[in-house]
Amino acid sequence: MSSLQDLFTHNRAWAAQMERERPGFFTALTKQQKPKFMWIGCSDSRVPANQITGLEPGEVFVHRNVANIVVHSDLNALSAIQFAVEMLKVEHIMVVGHYGCGGVMAALHGERIGLADNWIRHIQDVRDRHRGLLENMAPDKRADALVDLNVIEQVVNVCVSTVMVDAWAKGQKVSIHGWAFGVHDGLLQDLQMSVASTDSIEPLYRAAIQGVIAART
Ligand code: CO
Repeated sequence: MSSLQDLFTHNRAWAAQMERERPGFFTALTKQQKPKFMWIGCSDSRVPANQITGLEPGEVFVHRNVANIVVHSDLNALSAIQFAVEMLKVEHIMVVGHYGCGGVMAALHGERIGLADNWIRHIQDVRDRHRGLLENMAPDKRADALVDLNVIEQVVNVCVSTVMVDAWAKGQKVSIHGWAFGVHDGLLQDLQMSVASTDSIEPLYRAAIQGVIAART
């Protein structure tokens, strides 16, 4: 386990190594950020966006919260999405859940954990919307299925946000994707929910839900 002093030591060593291997790296970063990607993920410490994808500073714009939820009234998430789409002109937004997510487990089992219950409630809504589907699965498949379903629902939430409705109406090229990360194997799964227009939300949503059923039953 690292101490706080270790963090500074590692930081100094990393910055020096970067500058040695690629002189001018940080000077170039000060000029602008031009990431192609926005990552909306869980705050979980085991799911670091840059490391998993091999992306460097300047390459991915990140928003993380407990259980990667996008709520229509969350000014924090919406502001991040607006900035990414309108100012940075990202080309891809990925909503990334992860198996073994504590927030999703709490929602599945209706566990009370405190203030965050009110946040987790959004995932319970997802659970309730797909109750029949989940009940048809073996109990040991339900947690992973709810991780997938939560990602798919949050992709829809991004797609129907005013930011995306306006961006697509203007013809901006930006796609929203649903992925899930395996903490147990380090691998990303594509949940086959990649939306690039308002018209395609509904058919892609239905197909992605069918995909979850096919994979877990
Ligand atoms: Co999580």
